[in-house]
Amino acid sequence: MESATGSTAAPRAPRRGERIDVEIESLAFGGRGVARADGFVVFVAGALPGDRVRAEITKSKKRFAEARTVELLRAGADRVPDRCVHGGEPCPGAPWQGLAYESQLAQKQAQVDEALRRLGGLDGFELEEIVPAVAEWRYRNKLEYSFGAGDEGAGLALGFHARGRWDLIVDVDDCKLASEPGNAARNAVREWARLEGVPPYDARARAGTLRNLVVREGRRTGQIQTRLVTAPAKLPRPPVDLHTVIEGDSGGTEGPTGAIGEELLREELCGLRLAMSHGAFFQTNTEMAERLYAVAAEYAGLSGRERVFDLYCGIGTIGLTMAPRAGEVWGLEIVPEAIVDAERNARRNKIENIRFLAANARTGVRPLLEEAGKPDVVVIDPPRAGLSAKIVRRVLECEARRIVYVSCNPTTLAPNAAQLVEAGYSLRRVRPVDMFPQTPHIECVALFEKAAPGRASGGEV
Ligand SMILES: C[S@@+](CC[C@H](N)C(=O)[O-])C[C@H]1O[C@@H](n2cnc3c(N)ncnc32)[C@H](O)[C@@H]1O
Repeated sequence: MESATGSTAAPRAPRRGERIDVEIESLAFGGRGVARADGFVVFVAGALPGDRVRAEITKSKKRFAEARTVELLRAGADRVPDRCVHGGEPCPGAPWQGLAYESQLAQKQAQVDEALRRLGGLDGFELEEIVPAVAEWRYRNKLEYSFGAGDEGAGLALGFHARGRWDLIVDVDDCKLASEPGNAARNAVREWARLEGVPPYDARARAGTLRNLVVREGRRTGQIQTRLVTAPAKLPRPPVDLHTVIEGDSGGTEGPTGAIGEELLREELCGLRLAMSHGAFFQTNTEMAERLYAVAAEYAGLSGRERVFDLYCGIGTIGLTMAPRAGEVWGLEIVPEAIVDAERNARRNKIENIRFLAANARTGVRPLLEEAGKPDVVVIDPPRAGLSAKIVRRVLECEARRIVYVSCNPTTLAPNAAQLVEAGYSLRRVRPVDMFPQTPHIECVALFEKAAPGRASGGEV
């Protein structure tokens, strides 16, 4: 942009609410399209490379702006037709569905590489080929839907929020991320609500009853579990398994969950019979969780003698799958009900060389070290935020020969990886696993090794 005096001025920041027409050049971490408006970088939600879109600015900062697509003016040449559409809008759970699956895989592979090299300053590692998904659609074993008033007084709706609208819910009849039985379960609850005339909760008026519905599925057992979340109210008996009451506004305080039907969800994974309570974490793609754990087990390189720590263990899945190949396994997890599930899962599968602790990784690793002794292998599978610097220090105190880091966010893996390398580990191998087709979410496993004094690196643990 030229100023009146001929000098080069800084690009003008677009204002919030302003609408601009832009061409999408590439995809950023997190999946938004990257465009340039008069040299100013704009991250556009709902747009893919090659698209020309009309975008509304939602946030304007000094060095970049954020925007959402309001109209697709011209589809990029690589676009494939959307398959999961609700009320004329692309499914919010499948923002990359317009990108051919091969391109999705290539993007994810490149983003892991870029995160580790650019954000982590790392090189010399082997980036292995991304493991593609077994199923590109109908893979999710858990989906959460919101109740709301339908468009133009269309009555109660149960589905997802309309794009950019907190107050409007688009009815969902067939979400192609969910299985057919999962869709039928959601539709049956909506039917009940309409027949009984139970109103949706209206956050603005602080009135009404129905807030959300969570549908989970045991893919191998065929069990469907539904959990209804409502405001306090007298209700006709709902056709669900669990009922949670939330008091107050904007999220509110979650009360206890009452069981009407089956309290635990049963699933089979890597030959294990698992049961989990509703508050415990479980990977949302059962089939790909098996692939992910297989990569983690390969990286752990177990010979049957090792002591393994499974930090952030959830219901114990990674540790339970590794236990038959290890000497002993210790799982640590912050959610006490997940630990109850993990212990039950160990008993059910007759796995006796595993122990679990309910603790925060920040404060629980030192007591674990005192009780168990130093591990040979540490497996870490933290939430998206990754590890704090303090938890990295606790992991380093374990002095494990191998660290297997299972990450759902390469942009937090990268700085953690840099900290581990700085402390003397080498990043050896990294393998992305596509757990979430049609979305920008990236899962990967990274292997770090420490050369034992007097031993060549890469040998047995
Ligand atoms: C990505 S999940 C992994 C769970 C399990 N490894 C699996 O594959 O199912 C992360 C887990 O870390 C737990 N968690 C979160 N913060 C924690 C902390 N500070 N200390 C210990 N566990 C934590 C969560 O409750 C969740 O179960």
